Amino acid sequence: MLTPAGIARLSVYTAPFYLDMNDFAHARGEDADKFHVGLGQSRMSVLPPDEDIVTLAANAAAPILADMDINRITAVLFATESGIDQSKSAGAFVHGLLGLPSRCRVIELKHACYGGTAALQMAVNMVRVNPQEQILVIAADVARYELGSPGEATQGCGAVAMLVSSQPDLLIIEPGSGYYTEDVMDFWRPNYRDTALVDGKYSTMVYLTALKNAWEHLSQSRQLTYQDFARFCYHLPFTKMAIKAHSRLMKLCGLEADETQLDAVMGHSLAYNRIVGNSYSASLYVGLASLLETDPADLTNQRIGLFSYGSGCVGEFFTALVSPDYRQHLYTGRHQQLLEGRKRLSFTEYLAFYHAFGDVERSGNLELPLHTNGRYRLGAIRAHKRLYVDQQGTSAS
Ligand code: COA
Repeated sequence: MLTPAGIARLSVYTAPFYLDMNDFAHARGEDADKFHVGLGQSRMSVLPPDEDIVTLAANAAAPILADMDINRITAVLFATESGIDQSKSAGAFVHGLLGLPSRCRVIELKHACYGGTAALQMAVNMVRVNPQEQILVIAADVARYELGSPGEATQGCGAVAMLVSSQPDLLIIEPGSGYYTEDVMDFWRPNYRDTALVDGKYSTMVYLTALKNAWEHLSQSRQLTYQDFARFCYHLPFTKMAIKAHSRLMKLCGLEADETQLDAVMGHSLAYNRIVGNSYSASLYVGLASLLETDPADLTNQRIGLFSYGSGCVGEFFTALVSPDYRQHLYTGRHQQLLEGRKRLSFTEYLAFYHAFGDVERSGNLELPLHTNGRYRLGAIRAHKRLYVDQQGTSAS
């Protein structure tokens, strides 16, 4: 009998600025319905120059750590595809900034948007082997495409922090996934670029191929059928992608995909991403938080199916059971306040932040003016070292 392991806390953070898709459509001379209806997006979070994956991650993790003895954290597994250093792990910066104990392991993981799931599964298995482990799994990303490219409308940024333990107050992750890998060039970012390259239509197609194969692997190996699931969450590059994915899954299961059914089983997982935009490795888990926090149904003891996709590509379909009293352990009010409290940027302000990102990426020396109201910010880069600030007092490097 395996020790139950899973997610005890799930905290989301995104930048405190957004661009409204109406303003985007107006500036780009497009019909706003293309974004609202065609892609299913109404806002996108925009990263200010004084935030990056480290501050997104630290800001996401802070509420979890505030409620526990931080000396119990035994590992930090940090997934990202928006790395800020080719060598030093972003997890090490976060470890320092959060004052985590030195008896702790830290690593950065990468496989496009799949990295967060790889980190979660590693953590769950570490806990199954040693139930004393208390692991902080973090996924943080900044989705950035070239201005004027089709990808520009699907930008965004965000982080999730998950506490993985043998007391899974929110979700037990069940053993046994379905998975699929294929070496493809649907989305990539060479080291010399700060924006991603994407073959958008092809990536949508490969996503659906990975979904089909991962589902078949899962359903065959565990004899699960569609009816064994109460809800579904998908990787969310844009929310319409999940609707396409779920329609495909229903078809594979010999079912008619009608709007009412789609809305009931995955509609609530889309609410947060619709106003945050793409957060790559974090997006599936932003969707999970959205589901648990906005679905009015009591999901206790219900099974959720989660499909993770990372370009390049890997797909994994895995399952989780919702724990009793899960609602007592959510950060619903905090998340909704964060999302509603963001400042709307004009298109000109969005462009200024967009161009400032390049200065940060290429600079060895830079003092960064205060923009964010997040607790942790990037204060400066001096002698090629990033210096972070805890705005509640201590500063760290
Ligand atoms: N009203 C309603 N819908 C509209 C519309 C309008 N005025 N104008 C266009 N649309 C619909 C299109 O029919 C299309 O829907 P469909 O895909 O269901 O056919 C959708 O809006 C997008 O329009 P399209 O012309 O295909 O957009 P695009 O060429 O600008 O590219 C992506 C869209 C998603 C391919 C592009 O944003 C991209 O490359 N994004 C990044 C990659 C990504 O997210 N990959 C996903 C897998 S990880």
